[in-house]
Amino acid sequence: MLKVLEVLGATIAILHFAIPLTYYLIVRRWYTRPWNVSVQNHTPEVTVVLPTYNEEKFIERKLENVYEQEYPKDRVEVLIIDSASTDKTVEIAKLWSEKHKDLKVKIIVENERKGKVHALNHALRYVDTDLVVIADVDAFWDEKALKEAVKWFCDGSIGAVSCIKTAGSKLESEYRRFYNVLRVGESKMHSTPIFHGELAVFRKHLLDAIGGFSTDVGADDSHAATRIALMGYRAIVSDDVLVTESVPKSGYLAWRVRRAQHLIQHFAKVLRMDKRQADKRFRKILAVETYLHLVNPWILVFSCALLALSAVHGSILAIGLLLSALLALALRSFRTWIFYQIFLVLASMRNLWTKDIAWSKQEK
Ligand code: GDD
Ligand code: MN
Repeated sequence: MLKVLEVLGATIAILHFAIPLTYYLIVRRWYTRPWNVSVQNHTPEVTVVLPTYNEEKFIERKLENVYEQEYPKDRVEVLIIDSASTDKTVEIAKLWSEKHKDLKVKIIVENERKGKVHALNHALRYVDTDLVVIADVDAFWDEKALKEAVKWFCDGSIGAVSCIKTAGSKLESEYRRFYNVLRVGESKMHSTPIFHGELAVFRKHLLDAIGGFSTDVGADDSHAATRIALMGYRAIVSDDVLVTESVPKSGYLAWRVRRAQHLIQHFAKVLRMDKRQADKRFRKILAVETYLHLVNPWILVFSCALLALSAVHGSILAIGLLLSALLALALRSFRTWIFYQIFLVLASMRNLWTKDIAWSKQEK
């Protein structure tokens, strides 16, 4: 019996690491290949939607950040959709826009806060350009970011484009190092199911076709992109579209768990969708990413439980494996991986009682 437990525990542990590692190695080969999309300079009119809830600390800097983009100002309209902020966000935005008449800024104030996805859907009703750019107020674009993101749309197969993020803390940047390779590699294969709301550009008619942003999925960005990719268009994260995002000063765990929760909601919903129209490669990407987010973290929990049980009953193999895992935590990439698995496990449990569609912000 002990033998069965320890062998099962060890096998499951191996699977937990081998599947993502193999996937990473496959995607990394794509990461270094060229894009098979031809791009030219392309600067159509765009609407930049800035959802805000109590962003007095960042709104002015974000408006400056859009203002300073290497993009023709007369082809940009900023649409601030504020969900009844209780601070000075709206006043600051109004004042700023009065001083910068050369950039069109429209401000819509909702009378109650329902959450970001609701606000985005509300904003879409006011968009009359073919491209919609969604942005977070507390993340800052490289000055070429908008131009680099929009250029892809001269190719009709591209339905949505997002950025790569650079981050402050060590844990966060180690995670990003692997993560960005996956996003860009998957995009080169066809599409990535994970997008970044810090800068995400969509064709408006495709957002309309999917009925706007799903109100029961917190990961508005990833979910919309995936649904567009399921229609056969490409949803890509491009490595020349750069955004800097700072990490919250406190509440890092809550921040990561909430984002993980939103991703889990996204993958769980996509699982039930019709994927027949989708490209074969994207279907595979989606299957692996769904597995990695919904199943693989639990496999780790399960194998640890089996190994711990075997260790208690004197299994040398189990004790050895558990001790080596503890020692391996000294390695930053291993630690980053394990933390992410913990975030995902906590997130799936937390999803049982709250979806956190209107979340409380972690201060940056
Ligand atoms: N209008 C409106 N209404 N805007 C909101 C609301 C709301 O109820 N809640 C949050 N926002 C705005 C924030 O003001 C900010 O501009 C943006 O949405 C992102 O919110 P943050 O609180 O900064 O969250 P984050 O940094 O963790 O955001 C990331 O995760 C989200 C999903 O968990 C990004 O990837 C977001 O794009 C993503 O939606
Ligand atoms: Mn943010």
